[in-house]
Amino acid sequence: MQEDILNIINKKRLKQELSKEELEYAFIGYLNNKIENYQMSSLLMAICINGMSLRETVDLTDIMLKSGTVLDTSKIKGIQVDKHSTGGVGDKTTLIIGPILASLGLKVAKLSGRGLGLTGGTIDKLESIPGIKLSYSNDEFIKNVNKVGFALMEQTKDLAPLDKVIYNLRNATGTVASIPLIASSIMSKKLAVGAKYILIDLKVGSGALLQTEQEAKELASTMIKIGKSYDKVVIPVLSQMDTPLGDNVGNALEVIEAMEVLKGKKGHLRDLSIELSSVLFAKATNIGLKDAKKKVNEVLDNGQAYKKFVEFVENQCGSLDKIQVSQELKDVLSDKEGFIEKISAKKIAEVSLNLGSGKKKLSDKINYGVGVVLKKQISDYVKKGDVLAQIYQDVKCDYSNEVLDAFKIVKEIKNK
Ligand code: URA
Repeated sequence: MQEDILNIINKKRLKQELSKEELEYAFIGYLNNKIENYQMSSLLMAICINGMSLRETVDLTDIMLKSGTVLDTSKIKGIQVDKHSTGGVGDKTTLIIGPILASLGLKVAKLSGRGLGLTGGTIDKLESIPGIKLSYSNDEFIKNVNKVGFALMEQTKDLAPLDKVIYNLRNATGTVASIPLIASSIMSKKLAVGAKYILIDLKVGSGALLQTEQEAKELASTMIKIGKSYDKVVIPVLSQMDTPLGDNVGNALEVIEAMEVLKGKKGHLRDLSIELSSVLFAKATNIGLKDAKKKVNEVLDNGQAYKKFVEFVENQCGSLDKIQVSQELKDVLSDKEGFIEKISAKKIAEVSLNLGSGKKKLSDKINYGVGVVLKKQISDYVKKGDVLAQIYQDVKCDYSNEVLDAFKIVKEIKNK
């Protein structure tokens, strides 16, 4: 037995293709505690470095999918859609798009993940709402979807449980940024929930899992092919992740900002949420993009989408009035005058992670109230001493220099 897993690791180390049986032996063995953490970590690292063929990636997706059950979508009334982001900094679009699409009559049944690498996870964000329940049986989940139109939960032992254990291990072993691992992880969750139309927001840039457009396009093409083999429509959209999305980074802070956008706050986060919702709504209902955008704007402007968000949280037992952010605030002041040319998503995410908003190792505990709020955005003109950002923290620490370092301030903006 011991030898088999070593052979499999060595094959991948030597850039050879693994058969479906070998992948099953290693991955299902890991789920059943027959393969050790260190052995799976080693295999994941070999996959990260040497990649996988499309056939291996499709097989791994299938193994992950079949490690659990598949939601009986015949019980969901209406057009079922799904949305997933490959992960970014300050990316709280799910909390905005889910309620928008549900307000428009679509059914959004969403399995979400936790933070991965420097990127935040929707489950961690929602857990900042006291009382919220994010694990359900398949039947309860379907009941929530039919009742509210938008329901969200974590992977369970029923739906893609293998992805859940591998996801946690990848996060703690530096094996996140791999196209086949990301594609199989995302697609196994999407296929388990069964929506016909799946929008994937592929983030590219310093604060994303993928740094180049080329990698994002490769991931998109892999996911489209996996989707096709299950008769699903995968709609990829590429969006930049060099700058944090919106102003707030950190779990509770991001939930608060999602609500602000649903209540009318303008800016890039709202624009992107409108774009993604419209693309998915247009495709799923077979209408033009312009008409879809009009309807999306309507439910945002008339407050229906915000009401839907509140309904969703209350239906899942959360108390929005009890959400808390850290009380110790530190202002980060500009050390010069000029225009803001760049705000590094990576640097802001590192500070947020160091404050405790995510896990660096499996046993870490998340601090839901910490994070960074940007007070200035790209192109803003600032004077020396202006507040660029505020750090929300609980313990005595000083990350002002690191946050300041995330801002590039110049005399003149080129290509404004
Ligand atoms: N989101 C996922 O669900 N899995 C990944 O591997 C990356 C982003």
